[in-house]
Amino acid sequence: MKTRNKGQTLGADTVCVHGGISEDKHTGAVSIPIYQSSTYRQLEMGKNQGYDYGRSGNPTREALEALIADLEEGTDGFAFASGLAAITTVLMLFKSGDKIIMGQDIYGGTFRILTKIYNNFNINCIIVDTSDLSAIKEALAKDKSIKSIIMESPANPLLKITDIKAVAEIAKANNVLTIVDNTFMSPYLQKPLNLGVDIVIHSATKYLGGHSDVIAGLVAVKNKDLAEKVKFYQNAAGTILEPFDSWLLIRGIKTLSVRMDRHLQNAAFLADFLKNLTEVSKINYPGLKEFNGYEINKKQSKGAGAVISFEFDDKAKINLNEFFKNLHIIAFAESLGGVESLICHPATMTHASIPQEARTKMGITNNLVRFSVGIETKEDLADDLMQAIKKARV
Ligand SMILES: Cc1ncc(COP(=O)(O)O)c(C=O)c1O
Repeated sequence: MKTRNKGQTLGADTVCVHGGISEDKHTGAVSIPIYQSSTYRQLEMGKNQGYDYGRSGNPTREALEALIADLEEGTDGFAFASGLAAITTVLMLFKSGDKIIMGQDIYGGTFRILTKIYNNFNINCIIVDTSDLSAIKEALAKDKSIKSIIMESPANPLLKITDIKAVAEIAKANNVLTIVDNTFMSPYLQKPLNLGVDIVIHSATKYLGGHSDVIAGLVAVKNKDLAEKVKFYQNAAGTILEPFDSWLLIRGIKTLSVRMDRHLQNAAFLADFLKNLTEVSKINYPGLKEFNGYEINKKQSKGAGAVISFEFDDKAKINLNEFFKNLHIIAFAESLGGVESLICHPATMTHASIPQEARTKMGITNNLVRFSVGIETKEDLADDLMQAIKKARV
C-alpha cells in the first residue's frame, strides 16, 4: 500500500479512505475501477500482464484485499463471496482428525458448517465458553488433537466478551491456531491480529459494507505461510468475491470510521434508554459498566460496538410479534451493521439452526431480541421502540 510504504503511522480515518490500493495505477482515478473481466490477454506463452484468470486475480478485488490487510494491520487480505465462504475456506486449513474449539455463542452458520458439513470430513468441534480461560485450558489438556480455537468477542447474540489476548497466549503455548470472527466490531474498533490472533474473519456484509447492499466476507492474516495457504484455498475452491461487490465494499469502507462513531453514540444512548424501561428485564451491551466483560472489552477494543440484545420481562406481557410488526423505522430483519437499524428474534431467525436444547443452554431465550443500532436520529429510534411496545401489550 502506498501510504504504508511511506513508513508513516496513519490515523484510522485515513486508512479507511486511502488504505489498500486507493487509486487506479493506469488512470489515477481516485475510485478504483471495477475490472469486470473474467480473463486477461497474455503477451506470449508463459508471459501474462500480472493476471491470467479472474478467479485467480482481479485488480478490484486485490485493492479490497490490500485494504482489509491495512485495516487489520496484517500482511495479507482475502475477499470472499460471503462471510460463510470466508469461514468455509479458512476451515480448509484443517484435516481429518483435527478438532476445533468453537466459542459457545458462535454465529449459527459457523456452528452449522462445522457440525453438519466438516464433521463429515472428520473435522469436529468442541463447544467451549471462550470467556472462561480455565475451560479452554482444560479442553486443550484433555485433547491433543485440538488444532484451533474459533471465537467471537463480542459474541452473537448475548455479546459475551472473551479476553482475546489471553486466549491467543494460551493457544500459542499449545501450538494451536486462533481465529477471531471480528464482524461485530470491525477493524475500526478491534484489531485481533495485534492481540496475537492468527486469522481474522469478517462477514463484510455487516459494518464493513455498511449499507445492507452486499454479501461478502474478508480475511486478514499476519503470516506469509498462512497467507499462501488461504490464497491457495480461495483460488482452488473458487470462493472469491466478484469485482462489483469488491468495489461496493471499498466504497462502503471509506466511511467506516464516521459510521462507526455514530453507531457507537446511538448504541450508548439506546442501551441507556432500554435499561430504564420497566418492560425490559435484561440488557446485554458491553458498553454498560455493569455488563460482565465491560473491562476486558474496554482493554481490547476502542468501543463496545452497536449491537444490543435485551429480554422483555414476562410480567410486561409483550406480544413479540406485535412488537416487531409495529416498528416503523427499525426494520424487522436478519443481519446487522447497516446504516439502518435492524431488529431480530435470534431464537427463530439468526440462531434457528442451533437445536433448541443447545440454544437454551447458551441463554438464547424466546424473549431475547437483538437490536443492531443504525445511524438514524437516536431519539427517533427510542420513540419507535416505545410506540411499538405500547401497541404490543396484551
Ligand atoms: C458474526 C457473523 N459471522 C459470519 C456471518 C456470515 O456472514 P455472511 O452472511 O456474510 O455469509 C454472520 C452473518 O450474520 C455473522 O453475524
